[in-house]
Amino acid sequence: MSQKLKKIGVLISGRGSNLAAIIQAINEKKLQAEIPLVISNNPVAKGLEIANEAGIASLAIDPKAYITTQRYEAAICMQLKEAKVDYIVLAGYMKLLGDTMFQMFKGKILNIHPSLLPKFKGLKAQRQALEAKEKESGCTVHFVTPEMDAGPIIAQASVPIKEGDNEQRLSERILSVEHQLYPKAIAEVIEGKFENIVKKLQNIKY
Ligand code: GRF
Repeated sequence: MSQKLKKIGVLISGRGSNLAAIIQAINEKKLQAEIPLVISNNPVAKGLEIANEAGIASLAIDPKAYITTQRYEAAICMQLKEAKVDYIVLAGYMKLLGDTMFQMFKGKILNIHPSLLPKFKGLKAQRQALEAKEKESGCTVHFVTPEMDAGPIIAQASVPIKEGDNEQRLSERILSVEHQLYPKAIAEVIEGKFENIVKKLQNIKY
């Protein structure tokens, strides 16, 4: 008998190319999971169309409609719980998470960041790498913890930085490896390869 598929809730803010790569990996059976719900904090995120075209339920939840971050996150969590998600995957979700999400999905939140963490946390990671005159950069999939871009690393992939690169070229080169790495890393987490880390994260008091 086949095992029940794990459910992934994907949070986005914009373009949604990583969401598209995850959907493709699921369709190609490289990732044994399903996406019951995509949530965007931005009502005009292109990623919402990608979800739609794939026949995946999607919602825009506007933080401005809530008095506090706590209430906004409570609304998101309610939807994710209703959709019975096992994991939250951040795919270009441009908001920092607060305690409400961490409490409800301890050790179950993943993110992808366009640098070789711990180098170049935060915004414009590709530009930071160029300005630091690095010879290579890449992307990192990690568990999300309250400290930004600092949670335990699940997987990394590197790309060269070439003579004459600009931010756009480097971003594109990194993005194409993101699309390979993220679905693989999600699959490994779902398969239980990181259970020790997950247990540790679940014991943290927020
Ligand atoms: C990616 O570069 C990812 O590393 C970062 O945000 C960007 C999202 O792109 N966290 P997309 O929306 O998945 O196309």
